[in-house]
Amino acid sequence: MKGVILAGGLGTRLRPLTKITNKHLLPIYDKPMIYYPIEAMVNAGIEDILIVCGGNHAGEFLRLLGNGKEFGLPHLNYTYQEGEAGIADALSLTRYFVGDDKVAVMLGDNLIEKNFKQAVDDFEKQERGAKILLKEVPNPKPYGVAEVKDGQVLGIEEKPENPKSNLAVIGIYMYDANVFKIVEKLEPSARGELEITDVNNAYIQRGEMTYSILDGWWGDAGESFESMMEVSNLVYQTGANHKS
Ligand code: DAU
Repeated sequence: MKGVILAGGLGTRLRPLTKITNKHLLPIYDKPMIYYPIEAMVNAGIEDILIVCGGNHAGEFLRLLGNGKEFGLPHLNYTYQEGEAGIADALSLTRYFVGDDKVAVMLGDNLIEKNFKQAVDDFEKQERGAKILLKEVPNPKPYGVAEVKDGQVLGIEEKPENPKSNLAVIGIYMYDANVFKIVEKLEPSARGELEITDVNNAYIQRGEMTYSILDGWWGDAGESFESMMEVSNLVYQTGANHKS
């Protein structure tokens, strides 16, 4: 399975911190934010990784990460997203890299405490379709929220006013290569972006979506100053080594 980490976008919600650098290069406790999703992928057994950069400071990713030696990797791949047309737009740029393979996609501002290797192994065995990871949170409104019944995902709503559950869709998604055909047909949402939630709902409508519940804590460090601080504290208190 290939791995893709999305680190495009302008990070406007975190200005002025993101005025002269990229959101994913900001510190989360003792490391730059982007280190954590790379480590999470490597610890899940995915080593062929492409990073989608964007914005005005993309060159800094190369200076920081090089070929991934620090993560035990022989090589890292990069591509560049012009503009910030959404998570699904960033994913569409990885088509040539993924080819006919399956792909695990992780958002560059998402951090997890533990390992998601079990979900990767399960998806390797899944014949086709997609898999998402869900986490119960006290306030799901800023996220994609899943409605689940009898072990099936019925639908996902992006940042709903009245969430149908407390199950946030975290920023780790697994897809078969059909994902690129689905992205091709998407229309921009009200916020002008190609939404990953629309991709996931397309798989749900086909009856090809599975899910697991994430073990350990999860944080979206790029959502607000508060979330960045909370996630930094979680890393400080418990670590995020993904070893179990
Ligand atoms: O964190 C989980 C949430 O992430 C999900 O629950 C939501 O369903 C999903 O839409 C997403 O919501 P956000 O509003 O938090 O996404 P954000 O715009 O912060 O983008 C998340 C990452 O995706 C960001 O770190 C970089 C990457 N990205 C984003 C955009 C808009 C790109 O690479 N390119 C883009 O154009």
